[in-house]
Amino acid sequence: MNRQQRGVTVWFTGLSGAGKTTIARAVMKELQTTDAKVEILDGDEIRQNLCKGLGFSTVDRQENIRRIGFVANLLTRNGVIVLVSAIAPHLEIRQELRQNIGDFIEVYVNAPLAICEHRDVKGLYKKVRSGLIENFTGIDSGYDVPLQPEVECQTDRETVAQSTNKVLQKLADLGHVRSVVKQLCQVG
Ligand code: ADX
Repeated sequence: MNRQQRGVTVWFTGLSGAGKTTIARAVMKELQTTDAKVEILDGDEIRQNLCKGLGFSTVDRQENIRRIGFVANLLTRNGVIVLVSAIAPHLEIRQELRQNIGDFIEVYVNAPLAICEHRDVKGLYKKVRSGLIENFTGIDSGYDVPLQPEVECQTDRETVAQSTNKVLQKLADLGHVRSVVKQLCQVG
């Protein structure tokens, strides 16, 4: 990427199991074929280190998102394309992120709750249903659907490649990546 690469935070929001991490990783892989500076901040991973000890109350989620947003902001200012996959369930906090970071792309990774629960990639929904986990997003803790996301991926009806290409296309349209990735988008 040339010296003028403008950083941006791409925030993948959606229910657990909707496909946020999968798409973020696929976007990362494509961008790594270019000389773009890219970083990934994954909610599950960050809760093991930077946000270790935080739970899932509204206050803890806010703190979690605030810390991730802080790091994303620093990286964005330094010209990095930051791919964040974290639920960030509340409209208000996502609005705050957008205002603070400025260069911000909200990607709504949308899959119906029933589908996420059926996939149950991490076995968490099963635990929720047997009463082992409380405050679970979409079940007994709220999720505000994004009102005007820059990108919406409907992962129950499109392939990972199609979702990935939507994100790459948006990055290209907004001038965050060079034409080499634009071409990748068009092939997909
Ligand atoms: S956020 O609400 O604070 O943005 P974050 O994205 O960091 O959430 O973490 C969500 C991940 O934590 C889920 O993908 C899931 O693996 C795990 N998790 C564990 N307990 C919960 C819960 N009560 N609600 C949502 N996710 C949970």
